[in-house]
Amino acid sequence: MCGIFGCVIKDGQAVRLITDGLKRLEYRGYDSIGVATIVDGGLHVRKDKGKLEEVVEGLRINEMEGTIGMGHTRWATHGAPSRVNAHPHIDGSGNIALIHNGVIENYMELKDELIEKGHIFVSRTDTEVIPHLIEEELTSDIGMKGAILRVLRRLKGSYAVVVLSTHEPDRVYCARHESPLVIGVSDNGAFCASDVPAMLPYTNQVSYLRNGEMAVLTLDGYEVVKVIDGSLVERNLEEITWSLEMAEKQGYTHFMLKEIYEQPESLRDGLRLQEQYLNLLTQFLDRGKDVFLTAAGTSYHSCLAASYIFSKLSRLTTIPVVSSEFIERYGSTVGIDSVVLAVSQSGETYDTLKAIDHARMRAATVLGITNTVGSTLTRVSRAYLIQQSGPEIGVAATKTFTSQVIVLSQMALRLAKQKGKLSQDELDEFEEKLTLIPSWVEDTIQSNSGYIEALAEKYQDDKLFLFLGRGISAATALEGRLKLLEITYVPSLAYPAGESKHGPISVIEDGVACIFICPRGDTHPNIIGSIMEMKARGARIISICEEGDEEVKRLSDDFIEMPRGIPEELSPVPYVVPLQLLAYHLAVLKELDPDMPRNLAKSVTVP
Ligand code: F6R
Repeated sequence: MCGIFGCVIKDGQAVRLITDGLKRLEYRGYDSIGVATIVDGGLHVRKDKGKLEEVVEGLRINEMEGTIGMGHTRWATHGAPSRVNAHPHIDGSGNIALIHNGVIENYMELKDELIEKGHIFVSRTDTEVIPHLIEEELTSDIGMKGAILRVLRRLKGSYAVVVLSTHEPDRVYCARHESPLVIGVSDNGAFCASDVPAMLPYTNQVSYLRNGEMAVLTLDGYEVVKVIDGSLVERNLEEITWSLEMAEKQGYTHFMLKEIYEQPESLRDGLRLQEQYLNLLTQFLDRGKDVFLTAAGTSYHSCLAASYIFSKLSRLTTIPVVSSEFIERYGSTVGIDSVVLAVSQSGETYDTLKAIDHARMRAATVLGITNTVGSTLTRVSRAYLIQQSGPEIGVAATKTFTSQVIVLSQMALRLAKQKGKLSQDELDEFEEKLTLIPSWVEDTIQSNSGYIEALAEKYQDDKLFLFLGRGISAATALEGRLKLLEITYVPSLAYPAGESKHGPISVIEDGVACIFICPRGDTHPNIIGSIMEMKARGARIISICEEGDEEVKRLSDDFIEMPRGIPEELSPVPYVVPLQLLAYHLAVLKELDPDMPRNLAKSVTVP
């Protein structure tokens, strides 16, 4: 996830608007900054890694001239934060500059093709291929618009791009596919940005580009065309009535809610992993005599879910362990034959770094999954994958869990393929189901959010909640309970449902709320038994079950229905979403700020 901003304006300096816009886009990324303008027919670019203020001041960006320009604030996915990897990226001739938010899946093959033709690349990004492809297309004399359209048709993956070129120094080209982009118009000119708040001080007349559309911005306004055939699209502007504060959260009342709703998009990005690193990590995993999965908090719950997935799909035994316990528990057994996969959104959690320091000292192979390229975890890991969910501002992790689980699931499937542990049919089926996860999450949010809000009202005065699930759903239960605990402070328990009769059942009395996670699958018959045990003792049952699961619905006081066909092995991703929403609405009803829960920090970098 990155923030992009472009404009062409009649009076004044474009750069002041660009840096101001980037400031409001920093929530989308903040590891590098870059700006490009065109003055007297020449392209000017300044960029570097670092925070906005530092780079703007250090490179004196606000002194740049120009009435047309664009800026980018980066959250690295391909290539660590550095000056060369920062956007804008330039073609070989130095006449085309481009900024990008998204992931180009086929960049390796495009890059190889361009290298064959003599193009020289300076960065490790996926983005840099795009200006070079445009340069290549321009040799066939089809003009900027034709060249950009041809290139966009070749890109696989997600993108929102802005292009400036000295060939047409009065035009900003911008386009999108599965990454957000909005255009805006005022008496003073035209704008494009990743979202509305970036341009709201200058205009409230905007239009959201749709997938597969390109816009051309000039001082006279804008034109929108379809990428597929260049045909004109009629698009009216709409008026935004949000305040600036509302707009920063895109109309959501809290970042946590915004991030819950962002999950279909972040999951789509999480499916766009770099093949070579996915292969590398799974090859390392395969070589381990012992495979440990270590993490803290939500990231530990991702590891717990993954241990079931590795076992079921790849027939690999993994040992999930909270990182603060790793040294005491496995410090003397971890060794040269061990693989330790550390999972950390921030890549900076003290306990996790301590655990892998110890593992490295004992010559184990350390691998990482993180959201933060350039973090300590990426520097010390032998190989790592990026979860690609973009910055998460709400202290309670939401996108983090779902993205990490989708990344870990892809590793498990890849390993199953490499080791021949699943039949071709099973592999095809799981691969297809993985691609459906983002839309299942979308459907879950769309069809249940109103109902969950009402459910929160009904249960807002409850003093205790139990979260129960069997098999992999025990991990979902733990994560749902962590959300509730973190932001509502309501005491709650989470257990593997089968274990509940060995203790937790003692807290059940008339009316205690028991939340059961009941996807279809191997554990379904057993969960029915667990529900009956609790119901017989007076518990109120809230279940999360598949649409049409009459057996569970009959036993439940309230139920949240999930889309059909979700395999149990992949269920934590969609099934956790109602729990995130329930915790969120309960916190709001209790007049608590879900974005800033008491005593908690987003990244725990101390012992
Ligand atoms: C839970 C939460 C924390 C983090 C934990 C690990 O909502 O945010 O429990 O999951 O502090 O953080 P990372 O993943 O950065 O290592």
